[in-house]
Parts: sequence; C-alpha cells; structure tokens
Amino acid sequence: MRVLIKPDYNSCAKWIAEYIVYTIQQFRPTLNKPFVLGLPTGSSPLGIYQELINQNRAGKISFQNIVTFNMDEYVGLPPEHPQSYSRFMWENFFNFIDIKKENVHMLDGMTTDYVSECKRYEEAIKNVGGVNLFLCGIGTDGHIAFNEPASSFASRTRIKLLKPETITANSRFFGGDTTQVPEKALTVGIGTIMEAKEIILIASGKNKQEAIRQTIECGINHLCPASILQMHERATVVCDDCAADKLRPDTIKYFKNIEQSKMVRK
Ligand code: GLP
Repeated sequence: MRVLIKPDYNSCAKWIAEYIVYTIQQFRPTLNKPFVLGLPTGSSPLGIYQELINQNRAGKISFQNIVTFNMDEYVGLPPEHPQSYSRFMWENFFNFIDIKKENVHMLDGMTTDYVSECKRYEEAIKNVGGVNLFLCGIGTDGHIAFNEPASSFASRTRIKLLKPETITANSRFFGGDTTQVPEKALTVGIGTIMEAKEIILIASGKNKQEAIRQTIECGINHLCPASILQMHERATVVCDDCAADKLRPDTIKYFKNIEQSKMVRK
C-alpha cells in the first residue's frame, strides 16, 4: 500500500484530482474503451470534484468517454431527495462537467427488489470491463462505501443495515436529526471495490485518525473494512497530517521519505 501524507485537506484533494486527470490522459479513453471511475459521496471528495470541474472547464480533461459508478445510495430516498446520493453527485459534480447522462450509474434506493437491483449493478460494472479507479472516503470506524465493520471482504453489492454511529455521523446532512437518516443503504461490496484496477482512499481530519491508524498499521481485520486495502496491488491512501497523527513517527517518516525520493508513480 502506498501512503501519501499531505499538509492539509486541500493539498490531498488537489493531488488526487491531478492524479485522476493524469491517469485518464494516459489511458486515452474512447467511446469503445471508456475509463471507468468508482465514486464516493460525503465531504471528503468535495474538493476533488471541484478541482476536476476546474480542470474540465480549463479543457485539460473531458468526461465524454468516462463511465461512473457510485458506491452507494440510501434505501427509500428518491433521486430528487435533497440528501440522496444521486442528487449529491449531480449538484456537486455531474452538472458541471461534460459527462453523458447515460454514463452515470447510481444504485436505485427506491427499488422494491434489492436483490435484482444489486445484481444489475454488478453486471453493469462487469459489462463495461470493471472499474479502472475506485475513489473511496472512509468512515470514522474504517468503513468504505456502506460496508460497515464486520462486512465480508468478499461481499458484493447488497443491502446493508447502517450502524447507529454511522447514522449519527451522517445526520449532519439531515439537519442533525438522526430520525431522518435512512437505516438501510444499497452499497457495492468490499469484493466489488477490491476488483478495481486501482483504489485511492482520501482521509482528512482528527475524526479519521484511528481509522487511518488501523488501516495502515494494524493487521487486516474485518472490524476495520479499509484495512483490506493492504491486500490490493495498487492502493493509495492520501491523508493529511492531522489524519496521520496517530501513526507511529517511523511510519510517517518512512512514507514521507519515499515521496521525497520521487519513487512515486506519477
Ligand atoms: C458515508 C459514505 C462513505 C463515506 C463516509 C465518510 O458513510 N457512505 O462513502 O466515505 O460517509 O464521509 P465523510 O467523507 O463525509 O467523512
């Protein structure tokens, strides 16, 4: 696993956006060979989306041949609901770039047949050739997408019951009212994420310190779902100094030295 420790959130977001642009440019996507991006919601990716919008406006990147799959969606919220992940993505990203509507994939939280909907999603990912780059945030307990602690590392897209802690954390988007937060969500599985050719996880701030420590320094454990990234051949954690603050000093020194020695992919 590669770990990049940046001074603050903005430098994490900028680095990731530039890396995504660079990776897409190298890939040279076409209509028949699109680049497939897996995308998260939450506050962590917002700066990345803004920078990608800027780069799109500046003509440095086109999303015409990009296909996206979002990680998750609340059960019971229609796409037009202010807190649905679908609306979040359109209002914070898709409305401002040149992506084709038909290339955007979201799970349908209003479906009455969860099993078929999740199967449809897995098949759609497979039919387009798999995800090239999955961007992830991380929950304070180490969850990725809505794969709560103890989710199977082999899990596929399915319905999950959210932990009370996750509901409390996400209630900030619902005016602080936990009763308004859906109790269930549809989410890609950890197995789905791990099949991506590359994974980038962003973490920033004090409330991610323990999750980052467990992801990077502890053993692989289903109680910290993100720790499975240790097993991916091309996973990068990009975090700020604050989120990295619980790592051992020698761990921080090790990863910062690698970066300074320019032994980096880009
Ligand atoms: C939710 C989402 C995750 C996200 C997490 C952290 O639970 N399902 O995909 O990573 O929140 O969000 P934030 O970036 O706002 O801290």
